[in-house]
Amino acid sequence: MTDSVKVFAPATVANVTCGFDILGFAVDAPGDEITLKKNNQGKVIIREIKGDEGRLPLDPGKNTCGVVIQHFLRDLALDQGIDIFLHKKMPLGSGLGSSAASAVAAIYAINELMGKPCTRKELLPYAMEGERVACGAAHADNVAPSLLGGFVLVRSYDPLDTIALPVPDELFATLVHPQIEVRTKDAREILKREIRFSDSVRQSGNVGGLVAGLLMSDYQLISNSLVDHIVEPIRAILIPGYDEVKAAAKEQGTLGAGISGSGPSLFALSKGHQTAYNIGEAMREIFNAMDIENEVYISKINQIGPKVLD
Ligand code: HSE
Repeated sequence: MTDSVKVFAPATVANVTCGFDILGFAVDAPGDEITLKKNNQGKVIIREIKGDEGRLPLDPGKNTCGVVIQHFLRDLALDQGIDIFLHKKMPLGSGLGSSAASAVAAIYAINELMGKPCTRKELLPYAMEGERVACGAAHADNVAPSLLGGFVLVRSYDPLDTIALPVPDELFATLVHPQIEVRTKDAREILKREIRFSDSVRQSGNVGGLVAGLLMSDYQLISNSLVDHIVEPIRAILIPGYDEVKAAAKEQGTLGAGISGSGPSLFALSKGHQTAYNIGEAMREIFNAMDIENEVYISKINQIGPKVLD
């Protein structure tokens, strides 16, 4: 059995406008890398974190990766020391599932290192615990697609039930990350605790429509369904240029655009790579005009999820 493993886990777009906490998909890049090495000290030790500007805790009991690995070892009664080397290759507080990518990389890597005692689905609750450490809520709409790959519906949290959704061949995602930070915890705290009955009806219709559109490869139905009546209207104020970026994406022919996870990144779905590229350029221009540094990513829906690098 090997003594070390290196794993990449991808970024994700959660919510996908109408599916707060229940819909998400994985993209090819960015993502996080983790290396785990067995040690003889019987403890989980975080040896190094790169790419976080010193902001993440090195205490394994407070760190997403550390907690995930500790839970796994404890539950499986495995008395194994582990050294963790985390390379954050994506920004914190970006809305691209940064904490989820770390949690998924950690749980996938420890499972590989210990001889794969668990299936991917069995790893999901551990990755969700990582989210609880990061933002106070064990939401699964980032960790599920990052871990399982593809476009995922969280049908139920109790009991946990995730459904892999098919995606049309030519579906592309464009992501733009403006270099400002929105903490998921804050973006959740500003949400209302109760919603109007009529908004729930409209939102449910769109979730159903989006799922049906994906199943039937019906781009028009996907487009009609990418509307959020509940969360984005509140969170939009956190993102400078929100309306302009959405309008620019629309002008370039997006199927629909919105906040990626809790923001500040925005995403757009489109049919075909060229449209996705044009949307990215148009979105970038809006942030450039506001002197906000930004990165654009274009990707198909990543069907693989985490992968072993070494
Ligand atoms: N569903 C979560 C939220 C995703 O919107 O708070 C966070 O990335």
